[in-house]
Amino acid sequence: MHTLESDLEIKDSPRMSTTTPSRPAFGTVLADQMALATFRDGRWSPSEIRPTGPIEMHPAAHVLHYASTCFEGFKAYRWADGSVRVFRLDKHVERLRQSARLLVLPVPDAELISSMVLSVIDRVRAQVPEPPGALYMRPLLYGTMPNIGAASAPSNEATLIVLASPVWDYFAGGVKPLRIYVEDHKHRTAEHLGMVKTGGNYAAAMGPTLAAREKHQVDQVLFCPDGSVQETGAANFLLIRDGHLMTRSLDSTFLHGVTRDSLLTMARDLGFHVEERVFTVAEMLEWVKDGEAALSGTAAVLAGVGTLVHDGREHRVGSGEVGPVTQRLRAALVAIQTGAAPDRYGWTRKV
Ligand SMILES: Cc1ncc(COP(=O)(O)O)c(C=O)c1O
Repeated sequence: MHTLESDLEIKDSPRMSTTTPSRPAFGTVLADQMALATFRDGRWSPSEIRPTGPIEMHPAAHVLHYASTCFEGFKAYRWADGSVRVFRLDKHVERLRQSARLLVLPVPDAELISSMVLSVIDRVRAQVPEPPGALYMRPLLYGTMPNIGAASAPSNEATLIVLASPVWDYFAGGVKPLRIYVEDHKHRTAEHLGMVKTGGNYAAAMGPTLAAREKHQVDQVLFCPDGSVQETGAANFLLIRDGHLMTRSLDSTFLHGVTRDSLLTMARDLGFHVEERVFTVAEMLEWVKDGEAALSGTAAVLAGVGTLVHDGREHRVGSGEVGPVTQRLRAALVAIQTGAAPDRYGWTRKV
């Protein structure tokens, strides 16, 4: 069973090497407290903290029929001084609000979401693992209006929950370079919903991803409908060389990753030429002859790609190993997240 998180899917691969095989799989352990607020009669209730556990839902709830749901994923880290810091909270809160708007769900105020996240982290701070582990935060919003006739009417009731999950670093022992299938026909999602972090997008990518895994023994699928490179089922895609980074420019077809944004910002400051534009599978295959490729996301940070499988052929990416620039950028970002390097961007927030 694969979860939504790209890194777990990567971790599940038998090709992954890890020094901590006995650690629970990503997302399977939850902190014992969660926060919950409900929207009814045009307003949000005050949020409450509850023991993490089952919630009651009407079987006619909008989400169960018409998939009115969105979520977020980001991490809080324990620093060497014992403090706990959450990474780019504001950006994730804004993305959840944007997802809610695009799904026509009630949009919670940024303050409500942030305060629920901060109070859950505060309550469970003893459960935040030491680095390379972290506390993964999972806010979740869904429509609860009990009306099975509302296929084209928005839900006027909703629930917002914030879950937390202690996670460990499966990359500590070094990661085998990823093997990626290049899918240049099928779409990952409807074009206008790619930028929304909603369950249906992951459901849509599941079938093609499992089929490619079975047929081509790959870790992930890179969706490139009509030959235009987008992203994988749960991570953004970057082409990398010393001094040059290229990735798809932001549009509605793919998720606007916060890790992507962080890496691009750092690369610019390191003097890289950062190119954000639409590019083709043919251009990508040319680039990887002597360049690097990587997937970016909250849990993977930056995971190197070693092989692209396309049209019955295998294309080695650079040397076939995780590239040196990929490793350098990854280390630089992890250093900021965990307090090993100064945070000159104001991305970390003390809880
Ligand atoms: C479809 C998809 N793309 C990209 C990402 C990376 O986003 P972020 O860097 O904000 O974690 C994710 C992970 O959440 C994702 O699910």
